[in-house]
Amino acid sequence: MILEDIIAQSIQDNNGSIGFDVFMDFALYTPNLGYYRNGDPIFGEHGDFITAPETSDLFGYCLARQCSVITSDGGDILEFGAGTGILATQILFELARIDSLPVKYFILELSGQLQQRQKDTIKKVLPDLVDRVEWLTELPSDFSGVVIANEVLDAMPAKRVRYSKGDFFELGVGVDVDNNSFEWQMQGFPYDSSLTPLPNSRVEGYTTEVNQQSLAWIDSLYSTMKSGLVLLIDYGMPRSEYHHEQRVDGTLRCYYQHKASDNPFENIGRQDITTSVNFSDVAERALESGFTVAGYCTQAMFLISLGIDEYLLVEKDPIRRNTLAQQVKQLIMPSAMGESFKVLALTKKQSVKLDGFKEQNLVNKL
Ligand SMILES: C[S@@+](CC[C@H](N)C(=O)[O-])C[C@H]1O[C@@H](n2cnc3c(N)ncnc32)[C@H](O)[C@@H]1O
Repeated sequence: MILEDIIAQSIQDNNGSIGFDVFMDFALYTPNLGYYRNGDPIFGEHGDFITAPETSDLFGYCLARQCSVITSDGGDILEFGAGTGILATQILFELARIDSLPVKYFILELSGQLQQRQKDTIKKVLPDLVDRVEWLTELPSDFSGVVIANEVLDAMPAKRVRYSKGDFFELGVGVDVDNNSFEWQMQGFPYDSSLTPLPNSRVEGYTTEVNQQSLAWIDSLYSTMKSGLVLLIDYGMPRSEYHHEQRVDGTLRCYYQHKASDNPFENIGRQDITTSVNFSDVAERALESGFTVAGYCTQAMFLISLGIDEYLLVEKDPIRRNTLAQQVKQLIMPSAMGESFKVLALTKKQSVKLDGFKEQNLVNKL
């Protein structure tokens, strides 16, 4: 069965409409067929998009510096959705260099294909350290250490809601029989606004996203973590910007061969589908769960606070230094990843100084 047929069948079984979160889940995570489950390239030049660790090793080296305050005291690392495995190699390499290796580096990866890819990368780059890496398919109980999720929350299936005549309604997905494709369908009853705050906009057609799944994930993380630090790195913004009156079409984006579109109903299973993170929703849920919200800043200021420039200064080879300088620009320039990406730090039973927020801490903006 092809992915479109599986989705159409589910729509039929649900009286003609499924939530957009259900559609997104099918499109990204159906075993063997979904975008993150079918073994296609995804990351890098030959894929559809490039993430920060794919851009430069310095991203992982800076993260390692932040992790070292916990790992040097016996904490482990748990990375969610580890992509090609490149971030794990960067972090382990730098922690080995500064003598702060964790006993275990766990990777929670649901895709068998990506697990294999991560194993291959780590074996090739760090054969001596691969034994420290352990793959999981569910949250471990009693984890103590650092949890890292780079561009993971944005890949969790989100709901879409649209304002019409006095209320927000959930946008579902149905079948457009005439055009043999999928189409948006507005549900007949208002969306329950008690779940998460909705925009104040009264503009007809104003559309935004709500990511209940990422909030449930925060709850389960809190309940399975014994103590430690959580670093969530993603593109997103506080609620005031997320619900800005001019953001009338929300934040849904699709990526296919490095081209962005807002149509999730094409290239199904072959394109990425994402929504930006509403960091206020995440921080509020984290507080409700019991976490302390320890820091929030732009990716640029996080990397600068952790001394990304020092790696440039110690590089003696001019050609290599020039290459690194270009990579740093990509990571920290506002026009590239520097300001659209943010870092949110949560702690549980852990009071350590977090150097990543030395230069900027915008927790009060959330
Ligand atoms: C955009 S990719 C980011 C990959 C990698 N972290 C990087 O920065 O290159 C998103 C990843 O998050 C994973 N993911 C989404 N939800 C997840 C969950 N609940 N648990 C673990 N991984 C998840 C996806 O399977 C996918 O591999």
